[in-house]
Amino acid sequence: MWLSMRIITPLFLLLGGVQGKDNIENCKLLSESESAKKALRLLEPLTQENFTVDVKEEKYSYTFRVCGDVDGQTNAGLVQLKDGGKNVRIGNYNQTRVIGGSDWILLIYEGGEKYDSHCSGEARKAMVMISCSKDEKGKFSVVLEDREKQLDCYYLFELDTSAVCPVIPSKLSAGSIFLIVVFCCLSVYILGGFLYQRLVVGAKGVEQFPNYAFWSEIGTLSADGCDFVCRSRGNREEPPTYRGVGTEPLEEEQEERDDHLLPM
Ligand SMILES: *[C@@H]1O[C@H](CO)[C@@H](O)[C@H](O)[C@H]1NC(C)=O
Ligand SMILES: *[C@@H]1O[C@H](CO)[C@@H](O)[C@H](O)[C@H]1NC(C)=O
Repeated sequence: MWLSMRIITPLFLLLGGVQGKDNIENCKLLSESESAKKALRLLEPLTQENFTVDVKEEKYSYTFRVCGDVDGQTNAGLVQLKDGGKNVRIGNYNQTRVIGGSDWILLIYEGGEKYDSHCSGEARKAMVMISCSKDEKGKFSVVLEDREKQLDCYYLFELDTSAVCPVIPSKLSAGSIFLIVVFCCLSVYILGGFLYQRLVVGAKGVEQFPNYAFWSEIGTLSADGCDFVCRSRGNREEPPTYRGVGTEPLEEEQEERDDHLLPM
C-alpha cells in the first residue's frame, strides 16, 4: 500500500502543480524554510476538504481549509461563521507559519480581522494543531480562544488526521517480496491462460487449464518416475502366505455370486 502511495502522491503533486488550484502552493509562508515547506507538503491531501466545528452554545461555527478560501473570502483559511450575523475572518493562508514535528504540524494563519477592544486591537490569529491519528480522516475541534491579554492572542484548534502520521517503512523482507511476485505471476498465468483457453481456443473442462497437454505430460512422466522408484518391489513375487489367506476365499465368494446370476 505504501508503495502505491509513494508512486501516486508525486503524481498528484505534479497534477496539482499544473492545475494550480486548491493546492498548498496557495499558502504564503511568512518565513520560508525547508522544514516549513516539507511540513506544508504533508498537508497536500487535506487541501480539498472543509473542516467545520459547531459551537452550539455560541450559535456559530468555525470552518477551516488548508490553503483554500472559506466562505468565498479571498485568502481566508479559517472563518467564524455566525448564524444570521457577520462572519469573522480569523486567519489568512497568505500569511502562514508552519512548524512540523515527528507526528504533528502546527499551522498558523495570521492577519485575521482586528479585535475591537481585546488584545490592543491586533489582528486575529488562528493556530491549528494537526496531529497524527491513524484511523481519522479529519476530526476538527476548537480548543480555546485566548484573548484576555494585551498581545499575542490566538484561537486554538485541533485537527486529528492520518495525513501527518510518519511513514512506516515496509517490513517485508526481500524473500517474501520475491514469493509474492512469484505468486502473482503464477496467478496471472493461470487466470490469463484459463481465459485464453476458454474464450479464444474454446476449450472445455479440464483442458481450460493453460498448457494442459504440457502439464499433463509432466504429470504422466513424474507418475512414471514415481512408479519406477516406489513400486519397483511390485515385480517381486508376493509371499505365498498372503495369497493363500487373502485372495482365495474372496475369489470363491465372487464365483458363487456369479453363479446365482448366470441363469437369469
Ligand atoms: C468547501 O466549501 C466551499 C464553499 O465554502 C465549497 O464550494 C466546496 O465545494 C466545499 N468543498 C467540500 C469538499 O465540501
Ligand atoms: C493576504 O490577503 C489579505 C486578504 O486578501 C490581504 O488583505 C493581505 O494584504 C494579504 N497579505 C499578504 C501578506 O499578502
